[in-house]
Amino acid sequence: MTNLHFGRCLVVIGGQWGDEGKGRIVDTLAENSDVVVRFAGGNNAGHTLHIGNDQLVLHLIPCGIMRAEKICIIGNGVVIDPEVLLKEIDMLSKHGVRCDSSNLKISHHAHIIFPFHKSEDAEREARAHTPIGTTKRGIGPCYEYKIARMGITVADLLSVARMRNKFENIRNLQPSISFDIEKMIDLGRSFADRLKPFVTDTGDLLEHYLRDGKRVMFEGAQGSLLDVDHGTYPYVTSSNCVAAAAAIGSGIGPTWFDEILIVSKAYCTRVGEGPFFSEADADEQELFRSLGNEFGATTGRPRRCGWIDLPALKYAARINGATGIILTKIDILAGLNPIKIGMHYTIDGLSDHSFNNAMSAFLEQRPVKMVYKEFSMEGEMPESASSIHDLPRTMQKLIGVVEDYVGIPVRMVSYGPRRGQEFYKLPS
Ligand code: IMP
Repeated sequence: MTNLHFGRCLVVIGGQWGDEGKGRIVDTLAENSDVVVRFAGGNNAGHTLHIGNDQLVLHLIPCGIMRAEKICIIGNGVVIDPEVLLKEIDMLSKHGVRCDSSNLKISHHAHIIFPFHKSEDAEREARAHTPIGTTKRGIGPCYEYKIARMGITVADLLSVARMRNKFENIRNLQPSISFDIEKMIDLGRSFADRLKPFVTDTGDLLEHYLRDGKRVMFEGAQGSLLDVDHGTYPYVTSSNCVAAAAAIGSGIGPTWFDEILIVSKAYCTRVGEGPFFSEADADEQELFRSLGNEFGATTGRPRRCGWIDLPALKYAARINGATGIILTKIDILAGLNPIKIGMHYTIDGLSDHSFNNAMSAFLEQRPVKMVYKEFSMEGEMPESASSIHDLPRTMQKLIGVVEDYVGIPVRMVSYGPRRGQEFYKLPS
């Protein structure tokens, strides 16, 4: 069974704080997609893939690129560091993966990260009273420039006159930012020379593909709880990462979407600062980290680890309008005993199921505790599983609890990093 069961226009979104294993899932689902689209974020994302004996990390190019004949689109909602993008294209070529203007299309409306965005990001983190723990890749400043109407787009890169005009404007509006206009124009031109063949009106192209009956998958970046509007603000990224952003960040309308799937680990991780109500104790975190290799694919930082938080997942399902859940890394959980699931919070000693209430309490420095249901681990993970019935009884129960609590079905489960280590599940 394949994602032919998942509707023609599919959105795959991180249901936690990123790092849910979206890259690995998108790579699998891409088998039955014609077009794969990134629509938000930048190279703060790190989508890890295990293909044969190789491990690759993609930061900007959609994971669909690993399969021949797929068209990959970097939409207008993405912020692009051209240096990183060009390195990624070269890295793929070295691995024998075709990545040229025939299978990679870049929106002319995407915004460009320049070196001064990166230094602003790092300087602000150093000065902040409450640092966010950003990736220091210039993501926040680049989105700020976009919203402040002084950003530099891919289309600007292709014209020296347009670039000069933008840099002069930034100089006037941001006098404290130091950069040399001529140097920036030279840098921009060197990027444009290589990127020009890839650039097009990707929204128009996408609409054309959809009208043509092609199967399109939108590959989310980061996770719902890092969304700038709906996440754990201010401990969030600077873009919208929920499903609605797939329309805005690609240039088509939301009426095209058939299915929205949120990806969640069978446990939970977070990188950077901010609330994490189901964070495990130090010993358990070590265990998660070593079993699950929980280190950032972009920055190498050790991830904070803990248990799945069901009120948070239910909240993620709501803000995405999710139709199903993809549960990843269930094999890692099998190495732990007992297994815990976060069922609700206590806030000021009172039981509460609202993620938003827990978040407000956190910001007001009121005590929030996660209350767990515990399972003792019975049975072992099999080498391979083709249905939920092949899983240990404890895992089957866990999946049932997740579905009952969140109110939508688990539609796919992965139990290893490689293609084939997953099975699909029909809604019960
Ligand atoms: P920024 O996106 O670099 O501005 O970082 C803001 C917050 O989002 C930080 O806590 C980062 O660790 C987190 N973050 C950004 N991108 C990712 C991601 O792809 N996975 C996990 N955390 C991320």
